[in-house]
Amino acid sequence: RVVAVIMVGGPTKGTRFRPLSFNVPKPLFPLAGQPMIHHPISACRRIPNLAQIYLIGFYEEREFALYVSSISNELRIPVRYLREDKPHGSAGGLYNFRDYIMEDSPSHIFLLNCDVCCSFPLPDMLEAHKNYGGMGTILVIKVSAESANQFGELVADPVTKELLHYTEKPETFVSDLINCGVYIFTPDIFSAIQRVFTQRKDRANLQRVTSFEALQSATKALPTDYVRLDQDILSPLAGKKELYTYETLDFWEQIKTPGMSLKCSALYLSQFRHTSPQLLAGGTNTKSATIFGDVYIHPSAKVHASAKIGPNVSISANARVGAGVRLVSCIILDDVEIKDNAVVIHAIVGWKSSIGKWSRVQAWRW
Ligand code: GDD
Repeated sequence: RVVAVIMVGGPTKGTRFRPLSFNVPKPLFPLAGQPMIHHPISACRRIPNLAQIYLIGFYEEREFALYVSSISNELRIPVRYLREDKPHGSAGGLYNFRDYIMEDSPSHIFLLNCDVCCSFPLPDMLEAHKNYGGMGTILVIKVSAESANQFGELVADPVTKELLHYTEKPETFVSDLINCGVYIFTPDIFSAIQRVFTQRKDRANLQRVTSFEALQSATKALPTDYVRLDQDILSPLAGKKELYTYETLDFWEQIKTPGMSLKCSALYLSQFRHTSPQLLAGGTNTKSATIFGDVYIHPSAKVHASAKIGPNVSISANARVGAGVRLVSCIILDDVEIKDNAVVIHAIVGWKSSIGKWSRVQAWRW
């Protein structure tokens, strides 16, 4: 059996996503009309023998309760939110809930960052991972050399695909091959995290008895129960025949800023053409407005027949779009009113806002 874990972080993370994340936890912000985490969750449906999906984060439980129960019913796979009392890091958070994760005695554990946008080729990763025979396989992609330093940069053996070297967000260029934040592990990952905890505790104890200065530097260091997957696990295990890479040639983006949500919404809308065409406006779903390209309109939204919508537009629940309105590349959030003849281009219109008649809202660039 297989389980999937999605790391959703908490309110102190995702600060670059402000002000949007003040109103809604970032993982629930809509992309292509569906909460951000909905996309990896529905990709998990394609994993053979999937027993459970866990979301691990330090948001209040009530913020995820509604979503978790509705998505569990919809997919008929148990989805459970596990709340950390404080951040333990991307590997520490996973380790904290090892007893839950191991309940179904899984042979493999998928681990996904919530803030990446990609086609999540999970079944292919699983196959590749089984062939490599290591403890873990990382989804990787080639990006431009200029942008690589925002991510974990890595070197892999071109033939065996073994991870040979890993550096998290290096200051000097290492490689244009980067970590996509999507992994598959055997349960041995828990022993690897346990070893880091033990080393940390031993080091802290040793420093405590050696000198006052060392004690000071130890207190400045990371808490002993905080373990990062990238720096603390991937870097030291590179080159030890434990970790392998699986390269995607499909789309991949990281969602850290509001502007990126427009780009990622477009990517998911165009993916819907193959995966969920029923979600795209067109045919009987158009409500008679003129639709260009990929557009999502929530069933409760009211769009005037003379409006022109698209490409890359998603319109959320209870929005009202008036006569003669033109919308291009935008996300219209719940309860927004766009009055007659207004134009919105390259913008996110926040919850409950109202755009006046004949207004023009246009981002300079995105
Ligand atoms: N539950 C929980 N608890 N989740 C956490 C915690 C924590 O303490 N810390 C981080 N996360 C979650 C975040 O919400 C995110 O989904 C994921 O773990 C990774 O977050 P960061 O550790 O902040 O790393 P990053 O997003 O800057 O970079 C990572 O992802 C990139 C791909 O998007 C790195 O692994 C990079 O190497 C990688 O390129």
